[in-house]
Amino acid sequence: MPKEKDWVVFSKWGDTYGTSLSLPILIFGMTFIIINSPSTALSILEHQNSKTSDRPIVPMASDLVGWKNTTGFMPYGDTMRNHRRLQHRLLGTPAACKAFHSHVELEMHRFLKRLLADPESKRLKEHIRKTAGSIILRISHGYQVQETNDPFVDLAEKAVQQLVQAINPATFFVNVVPALRHLPEWFPGGSFQKTAREWAATLDDLAGKPFAFVKSQMAAGTAIPSYTSKLLDSDRTLSAEEETDIKWSASSLYGAGVDTTYAIIYTFFKVMILYPEVQAKAKAEIDQVVGNQRLPCMEDRKHLPYINAIVLELYRWHIVLPTAIPHRSTEDLIYNNYFIPKGSIILPNVWKMTHDPTIYHSPMTFKPERFTQPEPERDPRQFMFGFGRRICAGRHLADVSIFLACARVLSVFDITKYRDENGEAVMPDTEVTSGISSYPSDFGCTIFPRSENAGVLVQAELAG
Ligand SMILES: *[C@@H]1O[C@H](CO)[C@@H](O)[C@H](O)[C@H]1NC(C)=O
Repeated sequence: MPKEKDWVVFSKWGDTYGTSLSLPILIFGMTFIIINSPSTALSILEHQNSKTSDRPIVPMASDLVGWKNTTGFMPYGDTMRNHRRLQHRLLGTPAACKAFHSHVELEMHRFLKRLLADPESKRLKEHIRKTAGSIILRISHGYQVQETNDPFVDLAEKAVQQLVQAINPATFFVNVVPALRHLPEWFPGGSFQKTAREWAATLDDLAGKPFAFVKSQMAAGTAIPSYTSKLLDSDRTLSAEEETDIKWSASSLYGAGVDTTYAIIYTFFKVMILYPEVQAKAKAEIDQVVGNQRLPCMEDRKHLPYINAIVLELYRWHIVLPTAIPHRSTEDLIYNNYFIPKGSIILPNVWKMTHDPTIYHSPMTFKPERFTQPEPERDPRQFMFGFGRRICAGRHLADVSIFLACARVLSVFDITKYRDENGEAVMPDTEVTSGISSYPSDFGCTIFPRSENAGVLVQAELAG
C-alpha cells in the first residue's frame, strides 16, 4: 500500500489500467478493492448495500479501545440500524435540522466574535475547531461550551487524538496481525493492552459524561432541547438498551463531525486568499441580498446562489476523507465481470471522483461557477458524504454549519494574505496532509473587519 496520499496513487492506477475498479490487492490475507468511478461506487455501495455496509474491524481502535460502539465504526447489524434510525429522525433531513438552525446561527456569531477579538492567524484553527465542537455539543447534548478549558471539549479532543493513533497500523502492529490481541500485557510487545484500557476509559467518559449531564439537567427541568433530551423525553420508561443506543449515537456525532467540519471551514479561509475574485463576487452577492445592517441567516440561503456554489466547490475541492471510511462486504458479490469475495475491504476513492477531468472541468481549479452555469456540473454531495447505508448522518447539519460560516464571515470580514515581518505578502500553498483524514496545510492570513459597521454587527449581543 502507498505510504503517502494513497488516493493520488490509486487514481494513477485507475488511469493506467483504465478501469473503474482496481484488481484485488491482497495484504496479510485481506482483499482490498479500490473504486475510482462514481457509477461503480453507486452500483456496489448503494445498489448492493445490503451486502456492502459493514466496516472492517481495526483491532486496536474498534475492539480493544471500543470505537465499535460508535456509529461510524460499528459493524453492520441491528444496533447500527437503530443508531441510524435515531440520527435520521433528529438530523437526517433538512426539515428535521431546522429545529437546530438558531443554535448554529448563534454559534457562528460567537465564531465571528472570536475572530474579531483574536484575529492572530495562528489561532484560526483553534477558533474553527472550537466552533465546530460547540455546534455539535449544543445539538447533541444541549451543552454550552465554555470559552477556555471546557471539560467536554478537552475530553473529546483527547478521545479523537487517541482514535487517530489507534487506527494507525504503523503505531499498533496488532492492527496488522489481529491474533496479537490476545497477547498478555506483561509479555514483551504487550504494552498496547494497558494503552487500550486507558483509552477505553477516555472513550467511555466521552459517551457517559455528557449523557449524565443531560439527565441531570432534565431532572432539574433546565435542559436545553437537544438530540439526547428529545430522545430521552419519552412517555414510557426506556430500556437500558434503548438508553445505551441514545448515549452512543449522540456521542458518535462529535467524533464524526468536528474534524470534518473544521477541515472544510479552514479550507474556506485558504481559498478566499488564493482566489480573491471569488471572495469579491461572494461579498457583492451578500451586500445586495442581505445588506450590511444584519448578519446573514439560514432564511437568506435560497437567495444566495453564489455562496451556495462556494459551499459545493469546497466540498469538491477539498476531500476530508479521500478514500472515505472503508466498507467491508458481508457476502460474495459480482460487479460486471469482477468477483468480489465476502470480507473484502472496499475503498471508494472519493478524491478521484471529484478530481476526474471527465466529470469536472479543470478539477484542480477552485471555480464555484461550475455550479451556477446553465448546465451545472455534478453535485459532489453524491460522493463526499459517503455511500449507501453508511452515508454521513450529519450531512444536513454540516451543510448548514458550512453555509453559515461562509456567509457570516464574508459579510463582516476581509480575508487577505498574511504579511511577514518585512511586510511581504505570503501566498498559501495548496498542499494537504496525508492520512485517513486530510487537512489543508497551515497558512497565515489577515482577518480584518470590512467596515466600522461590520465590527459593530459582530460586537452586537448574541441573538438566536
Ligand atoms: C462498548 O459497549 C460494550 C457493550 O455495551 C461495553 O461493555 C463496553 O464497555 C463499551 N466500551 C466502552 C469503551 O465504553
